[in-house]
Amino acid sequence: MSVAPISVATLAAMKGRGERIVSLTCYDASFARLLDSVGVDLMLVGDSLGMVLQGHRTTVPVGMDDMVYHTAAVTRGRERALVVADLPFLSYTSPERALNSAARLMQEGGAQVVKLEGGAPMLDIVRRLTEQGVPVCAHLGLLPQSVNRLGGYRFQGRDQASAESIRRDAIAMQDAGASLLVLECVPAALAAEISRTLSIPVIGIGAGPGCDGQVLVLYDMLGLNAGRAPSFSRDFLGSCGSIESAVRGYVEAVRSGAFPAEAETPY
Ligand code: KIV
Repeated sequence: MSVAPISVATLAAMKGRGERIVSLTCYDASFARLLDSVGVDLMLVGDSLGMVLQGHRTTVPVGMDDMVYHTAAVTRGRERALVVADLPFLSYTSPERALNSAARLMQEGGAQVVKLEGGAPMLDIVRRLTEQGVPVCAHLGLLPQSVNRLGGYRFQGRDQASAESIRRDAIAMQDAGASLLVLECVPAALAAEISRTLSIPVIGIGAGPGCDGQVLVLYDMLGLNAGRAPSFSRDFLGSCGSIESAVRGYVEAVRSGAFPAEAETPY
């Protein structure tokens, strides 16, 4: 495995070669070292940390100081993987606010890419960030920061109108300058079609095997979810003896296309 640091260009080249991109969420330096050593390409400092580390029921309470703290811990442990950090809820309500928030994640935290949730209303923000040299990862489908508006964590894009709006938003995000796209909880056929259509890498979670890469919440793939495992996740630790072999198993399963299997592809 090459130890050259991974950039958004590396991930685009992997997509071009048809190599699957392996991603996990990561929130601290020890896991960053481990994930790096077994070949994870992209570490996402997700605001899911509000749920899995802090014990909140949603990602809504996560603040900018939390994100900067955990992003800095991850970047201290990482050598090779690309570090993407979430812009937390309400930290990107205008292009200027998004720039200030991205500055904190990149300058204090050391993130290389920032991720934001939402489609058409976010396009001006994505344009402004990318004009200023901030690489953006868009996030479509299920938007956890909007859980209070959505009324729960449900699969998106299951009817024609909502599938069409996700398809349109994905293309618009790429045109606005996004370097990566996360698709969460959308039907596999829709995710595969969007992955084929876009030139930027598409990383799926609960979006079937046809994406350019896969991401899972680290604690879910280690079986640490108090019996509330999402239907699209897999406990990689249950079947092996150590956290390191569980993460290795995940890396191999994503690279070979063995994860997600049919059982982990609900729609
Ligand atoms: O916060 C997070 O962990 C995420 C993933 C679910 C993609 O956004």
